[in-house]
Amino acid sequence: MKKRVFSGARPTGRQHIGNYLGAIQNYVELQKDYQCVYCIVDLHALTTLQGSEAVDQIQQNVREMILDWLAAGLDPKQSILFVQSQVPEVTELQTLLSMSTPLSWLMRVPTFKEKVKMQPENVNYGLLGYPVLMTADIVLYKAEVVPVGEDQVPHLELAREIVRRFNGLYGDTFPEPQPKLTHAPMILGIDGVQKMSKQLDNHIELAATPEETARRIMTAFTDPARKRKGDPGHPEVCNIHHLHEAFQPEKAREIAPQCRNAEIGCVECKKLLAGEINEALAPLRERRRELATRPRYIREVLGDGAERARAIARVTMEEVRERMGLVARETG
Ligand code: TYM
Repeated sequence: MKKRVFSGARPTGRQHIGNYLGAIQNYVELQKDYQCVYCIVDLHALTTLQGSEAVDQIQQNVREMILDWLAAGLDPKQSILFVQSQVPEVTELQTLLSMSTPLSWLMRVPTFKEKVKMQPENVNYGLLGYPVLMTADIVLYKAEVVPVGEDQVPHLELAREIVRRFNGLYGDTFPEPQPKLTHAPMILGIDGVQKMSKQLDNHIELAATPEETARRIMTAFTDPARKRKGDPGHPEVCNIHHLHEAFQPEKAREIAPQCRNAEIGCVECKKLLAGEINEALAPLRERRRELATRPRYIREVLGDGAERARAIARVTMEEVRERMGLVARETG
C-alpha cells in the first residue's frame, strides 16, 4: 500500500505565491508516489476569524482555495481533497490527544506567542490547541509525510512529540510525521523582510492578473544598499533575486553578476521577474478561470473527498477508542 501524505491550509482567501512555492508545488509532486490527503482547515481558520467575519468569509474562501489547488494540478481522482469540518472525527481525536499533551508544550509554540501579540483581544482556547488539532489532522490519516513551508516545522516537531507520548501510553498507533520542504520553503513578502502572508498584505496572489502582479512587484523592496542604478547590488540579500531563483533559476544566474556589476537596475530586474511569474502562472490562471465556471463540479470534488476521508477517519477512531479503554469489553 502507498504511504500517506497529509497537508492542510487555512481558508484565508486566495493562495499566494508563498503558499505555492513553499507547499502546493510539493502537494502536486507527491501525488505520483503517495496517497495524498489535502484539507482546507476551516476549523483552524476560526481561531482568528470570528463572528460575522467568519460567517461572511469562510465559504467564499474555501471556494477560492479549492480553485487554486485544482488549477495548480491537484487531481481529485488521485488525491483526497476535503474540508476539515466535514470530518468531525478530527475534533474527537483532538480532544483525546489533548489529554496527554502538557500545557507547557503548547505555550512555548512560536506561532502561539506571535498570535498573542497580534490579537491580544482574542487569545482564545482554540489558539492554544491549534497544534493539537493539527496533529489530529495528520494522524487521523496515519500520514507519514507532511509537505509544508518552513513556518510549520515547529508545529510538526510538536506533533511528533504528541505522537510519541500517545504511542508510549497506549501502544504504537500513529507514525511520527515528517515535514517535507520544497527548495523555497520560506518566501518573503514584497516588503522584503517578513514572511509573505495575506494578513500582512505583502503577498502576490496566484490568481492575480498579470497587471496586478507587475504592479505589486514594482513596489517590492530590493537590496537596501542599492540606492542608485550605479550602486553595485547584492543579489544574495535581495528578495527579488530569490523570487527569480524560485521561478527561473537560469535567469537568476544570468542576472546575478549583472546586478553585482550594476549593469542592470532594480526596475528592469523587477520587470523581468513580473514577466517570469506571469509566464509561469499563465496556464494555472487559465485553468482557474475555466474551473470557476463549474461550481457543481467543485461541490462534487469536496463532497466526494469528505466521504473518502471519513471512511479512513472512522477506522482510525475505532482503533483509538479501543486503545484508550473507551470501548466496553466482553467480560463473559
Ligand atoms: P497556512 O494556511 O498558513 O499555509 C498553507 C501552507 O503554505 C505554507 N506557506 C508558506 N511557505 C513558504 N513561504 C511563505 N511565505 C508561506 N506562507 C505559507 C505554509 O507553511 C503551509 O504549508 N497550520 C497550517 C495549516 C494546517 C496544517 C495541518 C498543515 C492545519 N493542519 C496539518 C499541515 C498539516 C497553516 O496555517 O498553513
